[in-house]
Amino acid sequence: MQIPSEMRQWVLARRPVGLATEEDFRLETAAVPEPGPGEVLVRTQYLGVAPVMLRYMTNNTDFERDLEIGDVMHGRGVGLVVKSNNPHWQPGDLVYARLRWREYAVFDDDPYYIPMRMGHPDLKWSYGVGTLGNNGFTALIGMREIGRVSDGDQVLVSGAAGGVGSNCAYVAKALGAKRVVGIAGGPEKCQLLTERLGFDAAIDYKASGVESAIDAQFPEGVDVFFDNVGGELLDQVLARIRRHARIVICGRISEYLKDPADYHRHRNLYRIGLMDGKLEGFFVDDYRERYPEFEAVLADWIRAGKLVPHEDMLEGLEQMPAALIGLYDGTNAGVRLVRIDPTADQGR
Ligand SMILES: NC(=O)c1ccc[n+]([C@@H]2O[C@H](COP(=O)([O-])OP(=O)(O)OC[C@H]3O[C@@H](n4cnc5c(N)ncnc54)[C@H](OP(=O)(O)O)[C@@H]3O)[C@@H](O)[C@H]2O)c1
Repeated sequence: MQIPSEMRQWVLARRPVGLATEEDFRLETAAVPEPGPGEVLVRTQYLGVAPVMLRYMTNNTDFERDLEIGDVMHGRGVGLVVKSNNPHWQPGDLVYARLRWREYAVFDDDPYYIPMRMGHPDLKWSYGVGTLGNNGFTALIGMREIGRVSDGDQVLVSGAAGGVGSNCAYVAKALGAKRVVGIAGGPEKCQLLTERLGFDAAIDYKASGVESAIDAQFPEGVDVFFDNVGGELLDQVLARIRRHARIVICGRISEYLKDPADYHRHRNLYRIGLMDGKLEGFFVDDYRERYPEFEAVLADWIRAGKLVPHEDMLEGLEQMPAALIGLYDGTNAGVRLVRIDPTADQGR
């Protein structure tokens, strides 16, 4: 394969104040890196976006390296190995790793990159940034390891039409849940939940009467709440949990743009003690040793038709800032990702 001498990449142009704008990023041309000893050169196939990336731009996470102005934006994606000076990787291998927002990337054995060989080249490569990558792993960890979903559970999911949420009903059902209800913004997304994403019912949080809608869907209370949103919605659900409920704290996108002083103060936390429940957060990367196991489970469910990935695909590296910004105004439905290599998946 012919490797060009130059590539495009997005760098941080300035730190955002609140929600990022396109001006916070700059598209640059750079030399395609030559892999050094132990290094692997990949051509980026697909890149994902996630709400947390806004926090990367202000160095506001414990788990990602700090970004200086002018640094290439952090991000994960699927790459096709095109050159390798590393015995573990051969040209033609597919890897899911921290590749950053660029058309070519190098990585080595440094665990920072979290390189995972994709074990499902027969399935769509793009699934590596969605259902067979962080989004699917997060849904599986949250439902199985944290929420302990099992036969007969009645499950509620917030942020249900998003990247993680769009996998949640399928995963919960595959684990034995009796009923899964999703919360999303607007009638179109609610229709998507029930028609395409495997939910039994949907609640529109932008309409009035969210609390009475939860009451109507869960007359006996909620067994498992998989929460992507946090804030006041979490409080409203806490008021409606059943005995031995499990509250899975996956994310809290409703608060990412707020000053910590303005975070919601939860009045109903006492219900955890009252109902002998459990409330627990988790971080997907803490399970990195088990990614191949999770990938195998999820790939089996896809092949068996138990899990149907829903992708929201944009085309071209130039779309990266818009793809990220759109997560905060709810324009995505399902796993939002960007195809970087127009020939991606042709080797499948
Ligand atoms: N624990 C972990 O290891 C882990 C891993 C991955 C992701 N996460 C977290 O999980 C959550 C979902 O991530 P994702 O990648 O799947 O994102 P996403 O759901 O694909 O994108 C964001 C969606 O959230 C909703 N949203 C945006 N602003 C909101 C607000 N103020 N209130 C309520 N909903 C809002 C929008 O949907 P609507 O149109 O329905 O409002 C939007 O489409 C995030 O909080 C993320 O940080 C955690």
